[in-house]
Amino acid sequence: MFAAIGGRSPRQLHAHDAVYRRWLLPRLRSGETVLLILETPQHAVAASGGVWFRPEQPRPEAPRSTVPYIFSMFTEPAQRKHGLAAQLLQEMLRVARQRGYRRVVLHAAPAARRIYRRAGFSRTWEMRAELTG
Ligand SMILES: CC(C)(COP(=O)(O)OP(=O)(O)OC[C@H]1O[C@@H](n2cnc3c(N)ncnc32)[C@H](O)[C@@H]1OP(=O)(O)O)[C@@H](O)C(=O)NCCC(=O)NCCS
Repeated sequence: MFAAIGGRSPRQLHAHDAVYRRWLLPRLRSGETVLLILETPQHAVAASGGVWFRPEQPRPEAPRSTVPYIFSMFTEPAQRKHGLAAQLLQEMLRVARQRGYRRVVLHAAPAARRIYRRAGFSRTWEMRAELTG
């Protein structure tokens, strides 16, 4: 997914593989993340993505200390524009709803923004600063 989005060097992407695997595997085992895969009729991977039940501080309107965060949405180039990402997203929302959540968050890459908007997502006021020196 990061390679398709761009802006990272091959070296960064290569180094990221092992880091990501170390991060993901224990969370998959514990159920803190759920990965969904859509297959072609020939059982090849067509699209995939995950939901991470991410720790956050409880708020008055959301007393649980986790929020579902959708990540790593990717459709194989040959399978794009057939609605697979939209379908996967609906399945992820169903998983979150089933666990009793009423809000889902994500960071939207440009190629997926319209898909998220159609599914009811809106922009928020998250901000960030790059710390230098
Ligand atoms: C973004 C991405 C996941 C979308 O996957 P996808 O399976 O092609 O998504 P969908 O098919 O649901 O929707 C894509 C477009 O195809 C259109 N579409 C869906 N079914 C269609 C059909 N049967 N005929 C024609 N167009 C169709 C959708 O309306 C949408 O158009 P829009 O972008 O103008 O709104 C994919 O392009 C990708 O992997 N990109 C690289 C990684 C990335 O950016 N990931 C997002 C991280 S947030």
